[in-house]
Formats: sequence, structure tokens, C-alpha cells
Amino acid sequence: MSIQVICGDCRDVLSDLEDESVDLVLTDPPYGATKLRWDRWPRGWPASVRRVLKKTGSMWVFGTLKMFLEQHDEFDGWCMAQDVVWEKHNGSGFVNDRFRRVHETAVQFYRSDARWADVYKMPQFTNDASARRIRRRGRPAHLGEIGDQDYKTFEGGPRLMRSVQYVRSEHGQAFHPTQKPMGIVEPLLLYSSPPGGIVLDCCAGSGTTGIVASRHGRTSILIEADPEIVAAMQRRLSQDHFKFEVPA
Ligand SMILES: C[S@@+](CC[C@H](N)C(=O)[O-])C[C@H]1O[C@@H](n2cnc3c(N)ncnc32)[C@H](O)[C@@H]1O
Repeated sequence: MSIQVICGDCRDVLSDLEDESVDLVLTDPPYGATKLRWDRWPRGWPASVRRVLKKTGSMWVFGTLKMFLEQHDEFDGWCMAQDVVWEKHNGSGFVNDRFRRVHETAVQFYRSDARWADVYKMPQFTNDASARRIRRRGRPAHLGEIGDQDYKTFEGGPRLMRSVQYVRSEHGQAFHPTQKPMGIVEPLLLYSSPPGGIVLDCCAGSGTTGIVASRHGRTSILIEADPEIVAAMQRRLSQDHFKFEVPA
């Protein structure tokens, strides 16, 4: 599947994309938490991507709770669907007077003019259930009646993937200082993009989203503002022998 790499500020580049042409936005914007030269929140990007996202599509955004609170007004026009916690093996905090920070969050949004029921989703499973039998008593009518339930799970059987995912970070072997591991991007992408669909990452860094998309038969559009990071992304993509195009 093709990976299209575009170097530029996403807010400019997105104006060239057609309305409602993208199935999924999966992105990891600058959190504005470090002194790295690119780490400044690009104001207005959520509004720019909203136009190009299909009403059946959704958007995953990596960040921290602090970032989402600071930028909450940027998500006008979006409804929040759920959040997933990425638990890392190492800490990323810069201070020693708080808990050692070993997680980041990914929040899924969909357009506020869409219905959640119509948004594409393919629940993800793991095969690590332990055998047990669960009996649940019915709920009375005034709480929304539910009949008695009785179900069994089997050793090694399927169960819904958990909202907290432990994945080792790629420190020491990454092309980008805040590179996301493929293992955390993969379940989000598979859950929320149809096979053969178009996935957009508007703050693409080293191109993790594109690699995962390509491995799973999705086309991707990767936008990255920093030419040096685009060069690193292209090295990474070519090492993986992926097909990519760089428009003139
Ligand atoms: C947190 S990093 C993304 C890392 C990426 N997830 C990976 O796995 O490598 C955010 C990226 O957004 C880029 N960026 C910042 N402002 C941008 C803008 N206005 N348009 C496009 N990219 C931008 C930065 O240069 C940086 O590489």
C-alpha cells in the first residue's frame, strides 16, 4: 500500500485534501512539553483535519492529560469516544518530585455532526483469557432491565483488548526523539480504519503510522513540517523497503 509523504505545515497542506476523503486520522502532535525545536502545539490543526475526515471516520490523538486540558478548546466540533493508556517500560518525566511518569494517553474523537453508531470500528481481541464462569443477576426495570446472564470464558480464549496497553518504548533505537512504538499504534489503527482505507497522520515524525498502515493494507498520507525529520522518515521507510511518493 502506498505511503505519501508531504513536507509542510499540516494546516497549509490539509487545504489541498478533499473534504471527507480520509477514513482515519491517527496522530501524535507536539505536546508543548519540551524545549525540542518542533515541540509547539500547531494551533488550529484539529479544525483543519475535521474537514477532510469522513463522517464515518474517527481521530486518535496521542498526548498527556495536561495537553488535552490546555488545548480543550481546540477540540470544539469533536466528541470524545474513549481513551487508551500506553504504559511504557521506562519513564519520561523530567522532574524528581512527582510520580515517575510511565504512560501516555491516546484519545479517540469523532465528528460532533456524526453518530457514534455510524463510526467505523472493529473491536480488537487478545487470546489470553483465563477460564472462568461468570453469573450476573438481572437488573430491575427501573435501572434498564437486563435478564440474568451466565457465560464462560476459556483458557487462552479471546477477550476484548484492554484499554491499558503495555508496550516497550523505542528509546535508544528510534529515528525520532518521541517515536511511538508500532505495538501501540497497531491496535488503534486496526480498530478504527477499514481494510484498504486511507489513514492520515498530520504530525508524522518518523512515519510510524505509515509503516503500520502499510503492513495492514491501508494507504497513508504522512505530513511532517520539519525537513530534517522528513529526511529521517524517508531513511526509515526506505530501510523497510516501503513504496513511498514525495510530491514535488
Ligand atoms: C510527537 S512528534 C511525532 C512522532 C511520531 N509519532 C513518530 O512515531 O515518530 C510530532 C511531530 O510533529 C511535527 N510537527 C510540528 N508542528 C507541525 C505542523 N504544524 N505540521 C506538521 N508537522 C508538525 C514535529 O516536527 C514532530 O516531528
